[in-house]
Amino acid sequence: GMIRTPLIAGNWKMNLDHLQAVAFVQKLHWALKDAKHDFESVDVSVFPPFTDLRSVQTLMDADKIPFGLGAQDLSVHESGAYTGEISGAFLKRLDVGSVIIGHSERREYHAEGDDIVAAKVKAALKHGLVPVICVGETAEDLETHGASAVPVGQLEIALDGVDAAADIVVAYEPVWAIGSGQAATPEQAQEVCAKLRDVVKTKLGDDAAARTRILYGGSVKAANIASFMRQPDVDGALVGGASLIVDEFASIIRFQK
Ligand code: G3P
Repeated sequence: GMIRTPLIAGNWKMNLDHLQAVAFVQKLHWALKDAKHDFESVDVSVFPPFTDLRSVQTLMDADKIPFGLGAQDLSVHESGAYTGEISGAFLKRLDVGSVIIGHSERREYHAEGDDIVAAKVKAALKHGLVPVICVGETAEDLETHGASAVPVGQLEIALDGVDAAADIVVAYEPVWAIGSGQAATPEQAQEVCAKLRDVVKTKLGDDAAARTRILYGGSVKAANIASFMRQPDVDGALVGGASLIVDEFASIIRFQK
């Protein structure tokens, strides 16, 4: 859509320590500048591990690097006796702008259900962080319910009680496509992303549906990004493995429809 600026987001997962992260962001910025990239044409965000956030923020501020900074998770709590947790308030103080919520790896390895995801969405919004709400079906879900039923249901719960004016991002990540090298087809991504936009419309209204960016994630690389970006309801990508390679990620950011 014309009104939505594309968003290319790099989810680094548990990769790159703070020194590697700083070097990476600097190299990525140089690569894009060398290519005379138009930084206005597409929003770029990186989602490093918590321990990298301060260093990356300091670098981006000092060198005026126009990337968004995001975290990979947050606590539902404000503060207190929650060993190992990081609150939205702490992230906001570090100039973090957005936070991934409900990634399938958190749902699977940390038993995060839809109720926790919904609580985290509210915690993020409360602190002025944009929640990047991840939804997607497993291979088993795909076989038994088709592609859209599970992600649609997950998003409905995640958006319960969310204000119509809230700034959110949705990421459709079929679990079977994550890290598998087997991306969804652009047609399938479009079909599910269109249904997710309908959910945004039902829950938050027409304006929200028109402005909310819906990303595709799962084995996105330079060679397939354009095919996804040509779909009317795909507004960007949430990139894992390929966001860890400077030239590959720069090529994804510089996609040509
Ligand atoms: O959050 C992005 C991710 O799950 C996709 O990973 O490695 O398939 O691009 P990858």
